[in-house]
Amino acid sequence: MAEETTKGKTVEKVSRRGFFSWATMAWIGFTAAIGGCVTAWNRFLYPNVLYEPPMSFRVGLPEDFSPGVVDERFKESNGIWVVNNNGKLYALIAICTHLGCPPNWLEAQNKFKCPCHGSGYYKDGVNFEGPTPRPLERAKIFVDSEDGQIVIDKSQKYQWELGQWEDPESFIQVG
Ligand code: FES
Repeated sequence: MAEETTKGKTVEKVSRRGFFSWATMAWIGFTAAIGGCVTAWNRFLYPNVLYEPPMSFRVGLPEDFSPGVVDERFKESNGIWVVNNNGKLYALIAICTHLGCPPNWLEAQNKFKCPCHGSGYYKDGVNFEGPTPRPLERAKIFVDSEDGQIVIDKSQKYQWELGQWEDPESFIQVG
C-alpha cells in the first residue's frame, strides 16, 4: 500500500494482512523443506530392505505328505512344491525353466502348467509341452536325524538333464 509522508515522500507500507500472508507462506515453505530433509535423512538411516525367505527350511514329517499328492503349502512362502510320487518325496522348485515364470499345479490335468508361454511339466517335473527346453529343477531334501523333520535346501539344486536326480540328496525314499 503506498502512502505520502509529511515531507512529501511516498513510501510503500505493507499491510498487516499482507505481511502475515507472506510470513505464512515463508513458514510453510520452510517447514516443507525441513520435512523433506528429515524424510531424506530417515531413508538414508533406514533404507528399504527386501527380506528373502530362507534358502533352508523345514516342512514337516515324511508322513505329512500323502502318496500321489503335490503339496502346494510351500509354493507361496518358499517357492517349492513337495511331491510324493512313486515312492519318492522330492522338492520341485516353482520356477519355469523357460523364462522363469511361476507355473501352476493343475490337479485335474495332473500337470504343472506355466501361464506365460504354456510350458507343461509332468508331476515328476519333466517337461512335455511348450517352449521350455528342460525339466523343472529339484532342491536338496533330507530328513534331519535329530527331530525327523524334512529339511529343504534351495541353495543346492539338481537337474534331470545332468543326471542329478539320481543323487540321494535330491529325494527321500518313502515307499
Ligand atoms: Fe514358462 Fe515361458 S516362462 S513357458
